[in-house]
Amino acid sequence: MLRRLHPEQPESFAFTPANLEWAKAQITKYPEGRQASAIIPLLWRAQEQEGWLSRPAIEYVADMLEMPYIRALEVATFYFMFQLQPVGRVANIQICGTTSCMICGAEDLVAVCRDKIAKEPHTLSPDGKFSWEEVECLGACANAPMAQIGKDYYEDLTAETLGWIIDELAAGRVPRPGSQTGRYASEPAGGLTTLTDHAEDRAAHNASVALALETGDTVKRIDGSEVPLSTPWLGNAAAAGQGAAATATAPAAEAAPDTEEAGTRPDLLAAPRAGGADDLKKIRGIGPKLEQVLHELGVFHFDQIAAWTPAEIAWVDDNLGTFRGRVTRDDWITQARQLVHDGKT
Ligand code: FES
Repeated sequence: MLRRLHPEQPESFAFTPANLEWAKAQITKYPEGRQASAIIPLLWRAQEQEGWLSRPAIEYVADMLEMPYIRALEVATFYFMFQLQPVGRVANIQICGTTSCMICGAEDLVAVCRDKIAKEPHTLSPDGKFSWEEVECLGACANAPMAQIGKDYYEDLTAETLGWIIDELAAGRVPRPGSQTGRYASEPAGGLTTLTDHAEDRAAHNASVALALETGDTVKRIDGSEVPLSTPWLGNAAAAGQGAAATATAPAAEAAPDTEEAGTRPDLLAAPRAGGADDLKKIRGIGPKLEQVLHELGVFHFDQIAAWTPAEIAWVDDNLGTFRGRVTRDDWITQARQLVHDGKT
């Protein structure tokens, strides 16, 4: 498909103050001279803010990264995830039309979109609330047919359920993402046939649905004010300007007073509780080396991590040395809460 800039463009674009702060922090992730590497997250945040990428938005991001406009335009026009035309102010509905979904009824879903939204894709509905498009495989083939609506997946759809979802969204309600036929994840439609141990003990929703319900931003525009600015390294940069950031090796018992550190020191332990340390490597993103760093800090158990507040996350991140930023990047808190809920050790 030919991807061109929309013929009608706004006069200008600017990040909201909170998004600007977030964007500047993203740029600090990259080494000097490599700031252009932040192009994808910055374009994505611009799209989260406005719903689509206008030419002024693309050029604004290029200016921030000191890139020629053509380089930013190349990125924006290459990736299909970037919308180059206005989208519905409630939602842009992306119907997967690839093999599994097509066999399982994607054409019926497209027909619903043509009927309820607009005859042609990339076209606003008469009330401006919706737009739709057909996209290639979104990687949820086992739960075909499916659609991405806003930031989340709706799976095991039928023409009826998609119609209902659109009606709900139009009425200001956001239906629960995930399988619409009650499947927990991508197990057989008739239920689990293997690995059935503890299936009844699992959380109410799989991690993806749980996160969608927790963040509640499935179809929300992001102006930054509602998003925690997960950029604790900014605090570190300020601290580094005055001296040195705390090291990862300071044992809990010898930690410096909080006034010298970023954030708030969480409850730490001198040793694991009776029964031994939990296997922190069960948290995605924690390997043997990072587990050792956490042990040295005094972190041995999932419930310790699950209880961290944003201020405590900032402290931990400030003490992770080269692993700084991992707590938020890999969302340890959600993972640890799930492990606690599942009774894992
Ligand atoms: S074919 Fe539709 S998600 Fe893969």
